[in-house]
Amino acid sequence: MLERIEEIRTEAAAAIEAAGSSEELEGLRVRYLGRKAELPGVLRKISELPAEERGKVGGAANKARKELEGLLEGRAAALDASELDAHLAADRVDVTLPGAPPHPLGHAHLVARTQRQIEDVMVGLGYFVAEGPEIEHDYYNFTALNHPPGHPARMLQDTFYVQSRPDVLLRTHTSPMQVRAMENQGPPIFVVVPGKVYRRDSDATHSPMFHQMEGLAIAEGITLADLKGTLLALSRALFGASREVRLRPHYFPFTEPSVEVDVSCFQCDGTGRLADGSRCNLCKGQGWIEILGAGMVDPNVLGFVERYGYDAERVQGFAFGLGIERVAMLRHGVPDLRRFFDNDVRMLEQFA
Ligand code: DAH
Repeated sequence: MLERIEEIRTEAAAAIEAAGSSEELEGLRVRYLGRKAELPGVLRKISELPAEERGKVGGAANKARKELEGLLEGRAAALDASELDAHLAADRVDVTLPGAPPHPLGHAHLVARTQRQIEDVMVGLGYFVAEGPEIEHDYYNFTALNHPPGHPARMLQDTFYVQSRPDVLLRTHTSPMQVRAMENQGPPIFVVVPGKVYRRDSDATHSPMFHQMEGLAIAEGITLADLKGTLLALSRALFGASREVRLRPHYFPFTEPSVEVDVSCFQCDGTGRLADGSRCNLCKGQGWIEILGAGMVDPNVLGFVERYGYDAERVQGFAFGLGIERVAMLRHGVPDLRRFFDNDVRMLEQFA
């Protein structure tokens, strides 16, 4: 019996050593240590042996079983490691390959592209870009912009209120960020603020949601001439190098004086007439196209941010607000502003 145990042990040890896969190893475990295997059988039947043999045979069989278990464990660990390496090598994925099937590349929406172009021009002039909340406090949207409660100019904008007392609303313009930007940073400040704004309005040139670009420049000694020069540079970048701008008096509560800014028509070169002598349809024969509102920041607005370093006796500046869709419509001949938001790809793909 002892000889047989030794035979099994040697045979099994050699087989385990030679096993080439964990499956094969599992087969060997069943074969030598499984329920129907010979060695465990010997152990089960120890009690049937003559008393004087039990101790020796039991000891030898137990020792052989332990040894084989140890060998199985060691071999399993070695095989696991090499099998994992082989798997990893076989499963390697080249993440730089194009997807299959390759998808056509999309492109930014015309409104987003126009916004970025305006940002680029303004960043080139030394401005930074900031964004702010679309749900805004009455204080920033109106009060700190010199529309006190009850001021009739609040009625100029059909506002979506979200909550009353304290009043919270969908911002009607990007101008509230003038105040927030000045609270964040003392003068000098040169900032542009792109973003969505909301009004109860819908027709070919208005949509309840649209985009504006606010500009604010405050420092010592800034004048209306700086405003005009800045907007001339912006207009030329957007509408062509030979454009001119003109300022017309207007009213906004938060600027004094306030102006509306026109750019010379880029279709008829400011003449109001097309080559065949007919009236220019873009500027309606005027030679000028209104593009934005602007003005010198009212000292009352600076009063709301005086404690952030804006002393109206020392610093002054200008602000402007531009409709981004309006710029895109003019430049690309889009007849209806609402088409930007229908999400009809046949429309959007034209501006790839
Ligand atoms: N916030 C104005 C509007 O939505 C546009 C505007 C006009 C902005 C004059 C300005 C400004 O900063 O100076 O109608």
